[in-house]
Amino acid sequence: MQTISEITPLRAVLRDARRAGKTVGLVPTMGAFHEGHLSLMRRAKAENDLAVVTLFVNPTQFNERDDFDRYPRDTIRDARMAEEEEVDFLFMPTPQAMYPQGFDTTVIVRALSERLEGASRPGHFAGVSTVVAKLLNIVQADRAYFGEKDWQQLQIVKALARDLDIPTEIIGLPIVREPDGLALSSRNVRLTSEQRQAALVLARALGGIQDLAEHGVGDAFQREDGMRQAIEAEPLARLDYAVVVAPDTLQEVGTIENGAIALVAATFGTVRLIDNRVL
Ligand code: PAJ
Repeated sequence: MQTISEITPLRAVLRDARRAGKTVGLVPTMGAFHEGHLSLMRRAKAENDLAVVTLFVNPTQFNERDDFDRYPRDTIRDARMAEEEEVDFLFMPTPQAMYPQGFDTTVIVRALSERLEGASRPGHFAGVSTVVAKLLNIVQADRAYFGEKDWQQLQIVKALARDLDIPTEIIGLPIVREPDGLALSSRNVRLTSEQRQAALVLARALGGIQDLAEHGVGDAFQREDGMRQAIEAEPLARLDYAVVVAPDTLQEVGTIENGAIALVAATFGTVRLIDNRVL
């Protein structure tokens, strides 16, 4: 594995690879790798000749300075893990390489960025969209891999690639969970053991509405209520949202017959967690 920290040399090696007819898979990350990240790397490696992983804790997508400062960082461990997955190139740019003096462009996917995570974290998706557009342009991969864990982010990335005519195929992969159901997240390491236990309420609430389906409850609002009640019953959870929406537009659906997704967000102490389940 080659570690590269500047854009120009990365472009040079990738240009040579493409000229030699090799396909390229891209996995954008902010590091602190866990099995969720590794599942994306494995797919990128399996479906392409070369796998490129980018590791950049993107300052512009953190709406709270504190969250940025406390974001877990361990690049030595991350590099070792990427190497074990036979990643070919690890791109770790500095903030100056990504946002040099005079940087003046923002990519905003409008409607998809307004609700849910966008409403709770102002500016977050503008930061995500802009950095992902840059990474897609830098790497010019055949395929790029994102987790369904960040469902809204995945829809936004698909929309920006479509709207900006970026030819990379955007591929979403399933959520990797702990054996007890907790969705893996780099932020989980900041939970106390009590909060870690309490956080299981998210997966439980999402599982509960699946049970409602088996009892023939197709009404989206009834299901939202069920999830809200479950999360609000957990004293250590501060509910942000629990909704049932259309999987692509993220707009409200009355009934779930034609496909829907349940999305939840809650804070445990200072740690904000999200989870979702396709219905
Ligand atoms: P990060 O949180 O590091 O996540 C990198 C990728 O891993 C994302 O596509 C995310 O959805 C995926 N992922 C995280 N947890 C997962 C899980 N439990 N199962 C499956 N996939 C999971 O998302 C970002 O970074 C950034 O916003 C980024 C896209 C890199 C832009 O800065």
